[in-house]
This record gives sequence, C-alpha cells and structure tokens, in this order.
Amino acid sequence: MASKILIIGACGQIGTELTMALREEVGNRNVIASDIREGSKELMASGPFEVADATNFDQIQDLVMHYEIDEIYLMAAMLSATAEKFPMKGWALNMNSLFHVLNLAKDKKVSKVFWPSSIAVFGPTTPKHDTPQNTIMEPTTVYGISKQAGERWCEYYFKKFGVDVRSIRYPGLISYKTLPGGGTTDYAVEIYHEALKNKKYTSFLKEDTELPMMFMDDAIRAAMSLMEAPADSVKVRSSYNLAALNFTPETLSKSIRKHIPEFEIDYAPDFRQAIADSWPSSIDDSSARKDWGWKPEFDLEKMTREMLKGVKDFHEV
Ligand code: SER
Repeated sequence: MASKILIIGACGQIGTELTMALREEVGNRNVIASDIREGSKELMASGPFEVADATNFDQIQDLVMHYEIDEIYLMAAMLSATAEKFPMKGWALNMNSLFHVLNLAKDKKVSKVFWPSSIAVFGPTTPKHDTPQNTIMEPTTVYGISKQAGERWCEYYFKKFGVDVRSIRYPGLISYKTLPGGGTTDYAVEIYHEALKNKKYTSFLKEDTELPMMFMDDAIRAAMSLMEAPADSVKVRSSYNLAALNFTPETLSKSIRKHIPEFEIDYAPDFRQAIADSWPSSIDDSSARKDWGWKPEFDLEKMTREMLKGVKDFHEV
C-alpha cells in the first residue's frame, strides 16, 4: 500500500510544487494537502485539502489520525525578511510546528518527517565560500536562529527517540508557479516578473551580492530523493548542505538580457541587504552528493529559460 503523506504548508512556494510532484508519484488520494488558506486552483482540484494551523497540535494530530498518515512534510514557516518584522510570531510558528511534528513521530503516529532548513543557519562568522557541512553557525536573523535551533532538535529527536527526520538546508529557491513571500532571496523571482511586465527591475540587494540559489524542480527532486533514501544512508540528521547555483543580481540580469535585450536593472538596497551579507555565497554539498546521490540539473541559463517561459504563462492565465 502506498504511504499516506501529509503536507503542512502545502499552498506556499515549495508546498504547492511538492504536493503536485508527490501526487504524481504516489497518487492524488495519498497526499493530503493542508494550509491555513486555500491554494492554487490546480492544487485544490487535484486531491484532498484540509484547512489546518501548523501551530495547533490537535488540528495536526486529528489529520494524522483521520487519514492514517505515514509521512509528514512540514513546509509552513515564516521566512527571513518577515520574521525580522515579527520576531516572536516567526519563532512561535517555526518552532512550535516543528515540535508538533517531531512529537507525533516520537509517539509513532507517523514514521518519517521532512523539514526544510536553510542557508540562514549560517552567519557572518561562517566561512563564506564553499561553506562546509560542519562549520561555525552563529546566525544573526530570527529565521536563522529558528532554523538552527530546529536542526539541533531534529538531531536530538533522532538520537534520543529514533525519529526518522530528514532535512535539507535550502538555498534561495526560484520558481514561477507560486510567488514566494517574505524571503531575502525573493528578488531572484521578482526580477523575472518585472522583466516580462516592465522590462526593468529595482533590486533590493546590491549588484555584487552573491548568494546560493536553486531552481524549484531541483529543490523538489532533492526532498523526494532524500525521503526515498535508505535510512542508514542518511548520515546527517541535523540538515544537509545543498547547492546548485551561485549568482549576483548583476549576473542574473545579464542572463535575462540575453532574452530581453532592453531589460534594465538598478539597485536600492534595503534592510534585506544586511541579511544577505550575513549568509554564505557558495555551499559545499559533498555530504549530500556522497550519502544519497544529490546532483542538481539546472544551471543559470537553463533556469532563466524555464523562468521566462513559466512566468509568461503565469501572467497570461
Ligand atoms: N529563501 C529564504 C529567505 O530568503 C532562505 O531560506 O528567507
């Protein structure tokens, strides 16, 4: 019998595409999407959906029992820029939702958990280039602190209670199906929308701010292959470094200009610049490659082609 999967935060930037990919893989009825609000038409029409609040243990437990869930993907979170504005709310959402899921796994109500961490776990004292799997981690954002604490709890629940929790430190994620919200890396999505609509974009990060990034298809494939890996090959139970591309707003604008020659970019850095400056510019993901065979498929040129096509359709629908 196919595993029954619950996705919490199914209507967000990652959740939307993850839900559709998992439904494709294990069948629509076996993937229960949940969020505090309804999502895209495609998602709502494709299988079961339940309104649930990730911070409400009883609501999550009821779903797990009702649908006899085996695996949970916890995708609900408040991202870096928004969490700087609402620190206590961000901390409460990011931590309480994780505890609820880890406790359900500890009590054997579910057998496997996926939870995304982020490059935000690193900080200004971390080596900036080829940031190693194990290194100094002194995050300076509320979001980063919550993800780092979350990683420690994941490893703790694995070691202490045998909870099969698996995690990836995602870089900035680029996609066209659902707009991201509240992240520092979101400029790299907005830029495509503005390039197509107005042929110009004002970046809130400086031209030479290099950050690790990834196209959504790679991010989804990574989560699914980590979850499919045999348990004993998953050596890292905090969270895996994961890399695909690194670029600056300037390099990204050049790749767009190859398709839209009149595209113009200017720069007006805001509070998100300091967040970006505290993060690595490239990541060493050799542990993920070695342990479960990770390899990205999208480079900058391929991603730009897909994004321009996808964003165009997004605005035409
Ligand atoms: N993309 C996220 C953010 O910018 C980082 O995980 O907040």
